[in-house]
Amino acid sequence: MHGIFITFEGIEGSGKSTLINNVAAALRRAGQDPLITREPGGTSLGVALRKVLLNPEMEKLGSMAELMLFAADRAQHVSQVILPALEAGQIVLCDRYSDATIAYQGHGRGIPLDVITAIDNYARSEAIPHMTILLDLPAETGLTRARTRNKKSMDSSESRIDEEEMAFHQRVREGYLMLADQEPDRFLVLDAREKPDRMAGLVMDGFRSRFPDAV
Ligand code: TMP
Repeated sequence: MHGIFITFEGIEGSGKSTLINNVAAALRRAGQDPLITREPGGTSLGVALRKVLLNPEMEKLGSMAELMLFAADRAQHVSQVILPALEAGQIVLCDRYSDATIAYQGHGRGIPLDVITAIDNYARSEAIPHMTILLDLPAETGLTRARTRNKKSMDSSESRIDEEEMAFHQRVREGYLMLADQEPDRFLVLDAREKPDRMAGLVMDGFRSRFPDAV
């Protein structure tokens, strides 16, 4: 594996997509050709699973079935997209990955973390992120942003998890912060209320200090 695998994490409304696009643009200016992808939904199987996983009408989806669908999405994504890109030497920018499963299904839903890591280890095989950007912000702020976005686009087809109670999103945020504390070398934690340009600059600084030969 010669490429570099970077994941982006955060609660709903933390601004991951904007940041990923800005970081990709900065990498392109530095002569790189990054691959942008996401979970769930980075393959055609993943697009189908995303429709099920985020559909608010799936109100009876149980926590264990939900975990296994996220794992199925990941297994396909890793083998079909992520590992081939890394093997070809690309930089992969992925919107959510294993830390989301620990934060949402573990801390959010309450599935024991050892169950999650066991299943996730099969799903992700050897695709382990080299660097993870956590966009941190209070759950109230993120949820207000996400709900305004859903209303503006008049699209609630992806709102199943956004609609969880505030305490759920607070547990997810705390779960992410615990993960970042456990692995300070992998994580770069940013305040998601910063200006987008400044955040992209901080990611690029973190990237250059970790991978000085890449750009
Ligand atoms: P997003 O792609 O728009 O950020 O939404 C994906 C949603 O899926 C978000 O609510 C987080 C959730 N999710 C999990 O609960 N577990 C996971 O493993 C992943 C990848 C996402």
